[in-house]
Amino acid sequence: MSAVTIRPERGSDHSEIHALTEAAFRDMEHSDGSEPRIVDNLRADGDLTLSLVAEDGERIVGHLALSPVTISDGSRGWYGLGPVSVLPECQRQGIGGKLITRAIADLRLREAGGIVLLGAPAYYARFGFEHDPALTHPGPPPEYFQRLVLDGSAPSGVVRYAKAFG
Ligand SMILES: CC(C)(COP(=O)(O)OP(=O)(O)OC[C@H]1O[C@@H](n2cnc3c(N)ncnc32)[C@H](O)[C@@H]1OP(=O)(O)O)[C@@H](O)C(=O)NCCC(=O)NCCS
Repeated sequence: MSAVTIRPERGSDHSEIHALTEAAFRDMEHSDGSEPRIVDNLRADGDLTLSLVAEDGERIVGHLALSPVTISDGSRGWYGLGPVSVLPECQRQGIGGKLITRAIADLRLREAGGIVLLGAPAYYARFGFEHDPALTHPGPPPEYFQRLVLDGSAPSGVVRYAKAFG
């Protein structure tokens, strides 16, 4: 595979992003198959704060979505990271890591407060994400809900994702 570059999505990428997200989550035990639709709906709702693609020169091999979240303590400028997808045949080559590192850098430039996500702690800890019992999201096992503070103090309370997440 040639060098992978990260860039914001373009209008012509939408169907490729949908297909890539479908492929990435197809065999994932934790997935209900809703992720491609979530990305489409975030975009339609105007909630796709950042949509990054990883491109290998020929095709899109990875994608990451960021959308606003609300926190019950009133903290401002927090975002939810995900879905994040890498084509199955391109996984474990650092592409997911590149997308996440770039998303964090972009949010720092925007002076965001921080990022939350749902995902395997073993993977996301390397980017500085950690579980904080004071910040909750009902549903999944608590330790899978993690946050990264970028600016200000750590928030506490209940986090709500954008409408597209249902
Ligand atoms: C999760 C995902 C985006 C990571 O992308 P990637 O390009 O494969 O990741 P990287 O190459 O940057 O990192 C690979 C490392 O992450 C680890 N990793 C990947 N997924 C992991 C998981 N669910 N749990 C623990 N570690 C994981 C790999 O073991 C590997 O570790 P190593 O470097 O120590 O061998 C990709 O595997 C994917 O698309 N998965 C299916 C969709 C999904 O589950 N998305 C995340 C939930 S929103």
